[in-house]
Amino acid sequence: MDRGMEFAVTRINQRCCNINEAIEILKEGNIVAIPTETVYGLAGAISSETAITRIFAIKNRPFFDPLIVHIADIGACRNLCAEWPKAAEVLANVFWPGPLTIVLKRNPAVNPLITAGLDSVAIRMPRHQVALDIIRGVGIPLAAPSANKFGRTSPSCAQHVIDEFWDDDLRVVDGGACEVGLESTVIGIGNFGVEIYRPGMITKEMIEHALNEKGISLGVKYQQSSASPGHLSSHYKPKKPLVLVTTKDINFNEYYLEEVKKTLNLSGSKYAELDLNKMPTIVARTLYASLRDYSESDCDFILGVIPSHYNTAASDAIVDRLRRAASIII
Ligand code: TXA
Ligand code: MG
Repeated sequence: MDRGMEFAVTRINQRCCNINEAIEILKEGNIVAIPTETVYGLAGAISSETAITRIFAIKNRPFFDPLIVHIADIGACRNLCAEWPKAAEVLANVFWPGPLTIVLKRNPAVNPLITAGLDSVAIRMPRHQVALDIIRGVGIPLAAPSANKFGRTSPSCAQHVIDEFWDDDLRVVDGGACEVGLESTVIGIGNFGVEIYRPGMITKEMIEHALNEKGISLGVKYQQSSASPGHLSSHYKPKKPLVLVTTKDINFNEYYLEEVKKTLNLSGSKYAELDLNKMPTIVARTLYASLRDYSESDCDFILGVIPSHYNTAASDAIVDRLRRAASIII
């Protein structure tokens, strides 16, 4: 191994820490990146205002964008929300631990910095043993956004976090590649129905089915929410521009290449194409890693062509993220 390589490996090792070290860091009111089954999170104990402030600072995240609170047992919700509707009970029992975030009325005890001053709080129980062990070890729920700079692609392995925060003093617990690969489904529960603010791998159909099974007749619909400002368009941007083809039967030929080159002011028209043809769960798992890898390659732009069989609920989440990451949509 040459000296430069050796130095890089040492720096990467220095960036990692184990579960016990992470628990200590969090108990001291500092922040640490942790694995979850969706993406890596940048975690701080909800009791530490210093940690919460640092999360926003290190991410360059605006204070109007609220954080998700991560718990390890359902009982913790009692101290976080002011209401616990029957639908929340049902969905939590079916989908937790797992990639579903439920937005509920906030308990005034929750620091408004976490909820961006909203009267609601977003809660989720992750399905990654390391995350659960850390939350239990700290004994306090953890606020954690995805561990990336604001507006950028979420990290689906520890190396992504290290790359993203290379210049910052941040440790990460390496829990392997994320099993799901896309951020959790975010839902709100109102008197008249369930609203999906951010689609994810827990789909509309799965939520409807779970509610129906328990005789709860609430409708479920997609809803853009100003209360979910983190789900802005122009989010999840890779470093190289993404060109997304959503129109069916387009032949991405010379004409389109020239148009893309002109519109994006590129010096060349070499592209790397995302492989979107596998099952949505498989595509989701590696999507963010591909966006990052291609951004580091010598291509001028990344191409994504939505396959015509993409009409299932699970593919909605993938198309949603690609649309937000895209610089051009055809
Ligand atoms: O899978 C995930 O959800 C990952 C892992 C780390 O748990 N976390 C994550 O966090 O994606 P973040 O901060 O990148 O995205 C949280 C989303 C944002 O769109 C935010 O606006 C929304 O949840 N959100 C948080 N609190 C909310 C609230 N009270 N009402 C509506 N939306 C809320
Ligand atoms: Mg995020």
